[in-house]
Amino acid sequence: MAADAFVSQLNEQVAHEFAAHQQYVACAVHYDSETLPQLASFFYRQALEERDHAMMMIQYLLDADAEVVIPGVAAPQVGFSDVVAPVSLALAQERRVTEQINALAGTARDERDFTSEQFMQWFIKEQVEEVATMSDLLRVVQRSQDDPMEIENYMAREHPEAGGSDATAPHPAGG
Ligand SMILES: [Fe+2]
Ligand SMILES: [Fe+2]
Repeated sequence: MAADAFVSQLNEQVAHEFAAHQQYVACAVHYDSETLPQLASFFYRQALEERDHAMMMIQYLLDADAEVVIPGVAAPQVGFSDVVAPVSLALAQERRVTEQINALAGTARDERDFTSEQFMQWFIKEQVEEVATMSDLLRVVQRSQDDPMEIENYMAREHPEAGGSDATAPHPAGG
């Protein structure tokens, strides 16, 4: 049985993950409209990862026989002043999500809900990667903001396509 406090906090996190999906679609569309296809493709892929995170949490709630509340989603920011702004926003978002994920693990531990605590471990590791990726990317876009084609070349070189599937990842609902 998952602890009630954890279940309601995880349902809130589902909403944050879907909101992150919408935000990354908005970032991708911004870059697509600026004809920066590598940056656009990176953010479309990040968006799908966020949706997967939500669906993994939904599958966990289903498996735990807990109530799942599919949320409405906060509207994303859609206007960006330059090539740097979407990446700064993304880094701030990933840092915020890292705090939320750590808080979820903390609630599970406080409730002595060790199954849920273990479920959160994959997300803790995932957040380390996502914050590192976005802070690297922020340095790159800041350095080359006057020459977006440099950024596109970097993306093509360092983030060519979706990485291989992660066998340790939780199963997403419907996946
Ligand atoms: Fe996420
Ligand atoms: Fe993320």
